Amino acid sequence: MGDTLRFDGKVALVTGAGGGLGREYALALGARGAKVVVNDLGGDIKGGGASSRPADLVVEEIRSKGGVAVANYDSVEDGEKLVQTALDNFGQIDIVINNAGILRDRSFARISDMDWDIIHRVHLRGSFMVSRAAWPHMRKNKFGRIIMTTSAAGIYGNFGQANYSAAKLGMLGLSNTLAIEGAKNNVHCNTIAPIAGSRLTETVMPPDMIEALKPEYVMPLVLWLCHEDCEDSGKLYECGAGWMAALQWQRTKGVVVRKPGQPMTPEAVRDNWSAINDFSEYTNPSNIAEANATMYEAMTSMAEHAPSSNNTSAIEPDR
Ligand code: NAI
Repeated sequence: MGDTLRFDGKVALVTGAGGGLGREYALALGARGAKVVVNDLGGDIKGGGASSRPADLVVEEIRSKGGVAVANYDSVEDGEKLVQTALDNFGQIDIVINNAGILRDRSFARISDMDWDIIHRVHLRGSFMVSRAAWPHMRKNKFGRIIMTTSAAGIYGNFGQANYSAAKLGMLGLSNTLAIEGAKNNVHCNTIAPIAGSRLTETVMPPDMIEALKPEYVMPLVLWLCHEDCEDSGKLYECGAGWMAALQWQRTKGVVVRKPGQPMTPEAVRDNWSAINDFSEYTNPSNIAEANATMYEAMTSMAEHAPSSNNTSAIEPDR
């Protein structure tokens, strides 16, 4: 076994760290030498109200064990303020764990604009605001570790969670691109889909399950992903109860449905439907170039009528 993983000299910001999973991350980082910004708005699970108490309690606990921590009570929607707390107190920001979250479960037939918007504001926009504020500092220091917290509801869908599923999978898309844009400056971004007993899940889980799914069983994965020795970026992990696994896209071999010189028809799609959906021979494209290569190959095989390559991913954006 290797040495203990330490975070001395690192500054970590954990959003929603006043309870549940975020509290575990903050306590563990504090115990292992990181200076920690404990952010929590202190509201209820639906996003109402505010209190400084949850963040204060975690800060006190870290300090009582000899660690260094400060509280921040702003909403993640004000990402700049959270990062400014790290800069003002510790002069840098190395680790961001986007963890704050609320729920507004509602079947799609009954969902309101507010149910949709507030979930997106806190989860997706909040993670964007916090990460964007930290980004230039991480790039400049040539070190950054960002965690996005998605959910099985986002990956697989879940009844009553259209708003939450959409926002949570949006965070995975954000993470995938941050991993690409951060690579050359050693800024990594990974996504976790945790499962844990907390105030968000205590109403839907029986007590023995809450007991078996302690937030402290998710913490080790998050700490490893935040450590300077971890080289992975742009990955997705499911984690709970001490079990963890990586997850990736899987694609069927695919079928060229168009025949050179002939019109392409819906009937041809129907007639090839089982082959199009046949996962017995699959691939796992891991980036956009690899994913598009198959299509370009098919395009070349139909060269007679192929359009010119128009790969939008190759367009150089303003940096
Ligand atoms: P929790 O409710 O115990 O912790 C979330 C914390 O975020 C709370 O302390 C809350 O005050 C804080 N918060 C809420 N809105 C905020 C805002 N706008 N700004 C700052 N802080 C805010 O819940 P839990 O279970 O620890 O969840 C943590 C994250 O994990 C959430 O993003 C949740 O969606 C995600 N998650 C949790 C799962 C579970 O099984 N517990 C499953 C899948 C995802």
